[in-house]
Amino acid sequence: MGKIYMIGSQKGGTAKTTTTFNLAYCLRKMGKRVLAVDFDSQANLTTCFGVEDTGVLEDTIGHLMMAQIEDEKMPFPKRYIRTKDGVDFIPSSIYLSVVDAKLRLEMGAERMLSGILDPLRERYDYILIDCLCG
Ligand SMILES: Nc1ncnc2c1ncn2[C@@H]1O[C@H](COP(=O)(O)OP(=O)(O)O)[C@@H](O)[C@H]1O
Ligand SMILES: [Mg+2]
Repeated sequence: MGKIYMIGSQKGGTAKTTTTFNLAYCLRKMGKRVLAVDFDSQANLTTCFGVEDTGVLEDTIGHLMMAQIEDEKMPFPKRYIRTKDGVDFIPSSIYLSVVDAKLRLEMGAERMLSGILDPLRERYDYILIDCLCG
């Protein structure tokens, strides 16, 4: 079962994304199976992984969260998990900010992300979440 770590702080510009990215690559270099999750609508981690136009993405963490909220069927992991240099990641986009507003009105909002990540835990040694807030 993979360990899940959240890299979070309410303050911006405190190296959350840099830490997540470097930690992911270091753990991979140690032979670990790593999933990095971009949970920031600014999508800087996604850009770090080489995705240039995040606005056009249709399989982001925001879309997965929306599927959870709407109780829709989840897509297959190979649709939303990307790989760069052996590190798997789930991208983000500005769409996550739409979800964020909706999530505040939802019951059980705190379980939405675990509903996405729990089924993936057995595939990884580490799941790292780059958050906007802590
Ligand atoms: N150890 C470091 N030394 C110098 N600059 C750093 C260091 N870590 C991160 N930075 C720079 O600080 C800025 C903010 O980092 P970032 O990881 O995007 O922060 P956050 O995700 O918390 O908003 C970036 O320009 C990044 O390159
Ligand atoms: Mg960041």
